[in-house]
Parts: sequence; C-alpha cells; structure tokens
Amino acid sequence: MKLDIALLAGDGIGPEVIDQAVKVCDAIATKYKHEISWKPALTGAAAIDAVGEPYPDETHEVCASADAVLFGAIGHPRFDNDPSAKVRPEQGLLKMRQKLGLFANVRPTFTFPSLIDKSPLKRERIEGTDLIILRELTGGVYFGERGRKDDGNTAFDTMTYTRAEIQRLAKKGFEMAMNRSKRLCCVDKANVLESSRLWRETVQAMEKDYPEVEVSYEFVDAVAMRLVQWPKGYDVIITENLFGDILTDEASVISGSMGLMPSASVGEKTKLYEPIHGSYPQAAGKDIANPLATVLSAAMLFEDFGLQQEADDIRRVVNKSLAEGIVTEDLSEDAKAYKTSEVGDWLAKNV
Ligand SMILES: NC(=O)c1ccc[n+]([C@@H]2O[C@H](COP(=O)([O-])OP(=O)(O)OC[C@H]3O[C@@H](n4cnc5c(N)ncnc54)[C@H](O)[C@@H]3O)[C@@H](O)[C@H]2O)c1
Repeated sequence: MKLDIALLAGDGIGPEVIDQAVKVCDAIATKYKHEISWKPALTGAAAIDAVGEPYPDETHEVCASADAVLFGAIGHPRFDNDPSAKVRPEQGLLKMRQKLGLFANVRPTFTFPSLIDKSPLKRERIEGTDLIILRELTGGVYFGERGRKDDGNTAFDTMTYTRAEIQRLAKKGFEMAMNRSKRLCCVDKANVLESSRLWRETVQAMEKDYPEVEVSYEFVDAVAMRLVQWPKGYDVIITENLFGDILTDEASVISGSMGLMPSASVGEKTKLYEPIHGSYPQAAGKDIANPLATVLSAAMLFEDFGLQQEADDIRRVVNKSLAEGIVTEDLSEDAKAYKTSEVGDWLAKNV
C-alpha cells in the first residue's frame, strides 16, 4: 500500500518521539512492502517562531491532502507562563481539529501485562481493562463563547452543544460498541447542566437504532471515581470535550504512564494519530521521553487502513520491549533506563 503521511512533530519532546515512530513505521513498510511518503510540516510554537501562527495554511494543505496525519505534541512554557500571549500553540491544535473536521478523539485504555504491578492501582482492579473513551473534540466549553466583563473581574466560558454534534459523536460510539462488547456509557452532568440534558435526550433517542447495545448513563463525577475503582465495568464511554479531556488523563494511570497511551482523532476527512501526552518541556532535547505512545498511535493508523497484521506487529514489539526492560526512565525504576532513540532503534530492529 502507498501511504502519504503528514508528519507534525511540534514542540518539546514531539520531534524526539515522532522520530522513533517513523523508524518503526519504516521498518514495518520494509517488512510488508508498503511505501510510506512522509510529509513534514510545521505546527505549534515551532510554527509560531517560523511563520507567526501555530497552524499555518501550508500545514493545513499538507494535512488535508495526506492519507493520515501523525502528530507529536505542541506547547511551550514561554506561552504557558504568559496569559496575555495573543497567539498560542494550543490555538493551532484547536484550529487543526476544526479545519480537518476531527470531531472525535478515540482513546483506548488497556494494561500491559509486564507493567501491571507498576501501576499505583491494584492488579485485581485493572488486569484485563479494555475500554475506549470517545471524547467529543470540536464543541463544548473549549469552543463556546468566552470573555471578561465587569472591568475584567468576571470571566466566563460557555458550554454549547447542538443535537447534530452530539448525534455524530454518539453514532461513532454506538458503532464502536457494536464491534466490541455492545456496552455504551454516556457520561454527562445531566443533573445540573442543560447541555448534558441535551446529550442524554439525544443518545436516548438513538437507542432504538441499536437495540443490541446496552446503554447506561452516568454522571461525570461518579465516573471519575469508578474509572479507577473498577475500570473493567466500562467498554465504550462517550462524553463531551472537557469531561473527556479530564477522564482520559485519569485513565492513563491504569496503563502506567502518560508516555504509553495512543489516540486517534477522527471525523469526516483525514484521520490524525497522536500520543495523549503533551510536549513535556522538561524532557525536551534530553532523549529521555517515552516514545511508546506515539509508536502505538502509529499502530492505530495501520489498523485503520486495514493493515491489522502490521498493527499487531507493532504492539507485539512494544510488549516485548516492556517485558525485556528496554524502557525509558519513566518505566525503568531500578533497572537501566534506555534513551528515547535507543528504544526506537530496538523496536525498529525487532520489527
Ligand atoms: N496534544 C498536545 O499537544 C498537548 C496535550 C496536553 C498538553 N499539551 C501542552 O504540553 C505542555 C506541557 O503540558 P503538561 O506538563 O500539562 O503535560 P505533559 O503531558 O506534557 O506532561 C505531564 C507529565 O506527564 C509525563 N509525561 C508526558 N509525556 C511523557 C512521555 N512521553 N514520557 C514520559 N513521561 C511523560 C511527565 O511526567 C510530565 O511531567 C503544555 O504547553 C501543554 O499545553 C499539549
């Protein structure tokens, strides 16, 4: 298969982890005789420095015409520590999601057999966890009306959703549940928020189209607790943008490290694959960040193109590296810590 993949390394550890994913993908391409053409483009603080904006039109053109996008991370402390900055790296992320129509973020949560005992959660609670959080990505409070009033002493952000936005996200959730254990949980705050009541009403109305799917409705505060108490109780979770942002980071604890969890952002057009972590600026340039989340995001990419064996191969070598202790310092504890680039080389060689 021929694949054109836009490569958005971004900021901080982004370029380092992306480099390792490229090594692994190239090894897979050689093994299975695929042709991958990488199309690098600027985003985030790197793009602001180069051309003054975080998601330039040229980058959008590269992404829109590619078969898929592989994304590292964006963000720089220079902007995080300056609330008055008018142009920010994160605006690039939001613009990219909107322009590429990426309205759903798919975040699988699972455990790695060799890491279970390193989790802060007890083995019996997490072993066998296999859930997906489907987070709405282009609506809600991150995109609603916001501002200041009363001479800047009052601030507001608005959580707005349309029925159509909820339906398209829920449809993906129902379809995913149909291909899995047919359980769907809609997470909201319908006891308080009007937008959540629209979520619940909309999902309830869709139930009749998927009679085999068992749907439950839970409040986000309760799910925040149950997710770490009994994650095996969930299969597919659908939720709005802000709730999903928080719950998915919480869920990463089940797997053991922020550096392990992949994700895909999907919608109407090009799909984007990215680790769930940010640019981890403290580690930038040190060759210590865990590249596995990005490598596993590439596995999701292959899977979505129907290349299941390729995806399984990547997951197999990742599990092998974990079992053999070829890991970066976030997972190494007393054992020797490998550099980001060494882990990437090892994975590519073992493919
Ligand atoms: N999608 C994105 O690009 C994205 C997502 C979240 C945050 N950000 C941005 O990233 C910057 C840093 O944010 P943050 O510190 O809240 O989140 P972060 O995910 O960058 O880091 C949080 C912590 O997680 C751990 N971690 C993250 N990635 C890791 C990796 N690959 N290997 C090992 N450990 C890892 C580290 O302990 C780190 O201190 C900010 O500018 C933020 O806006 C970007």
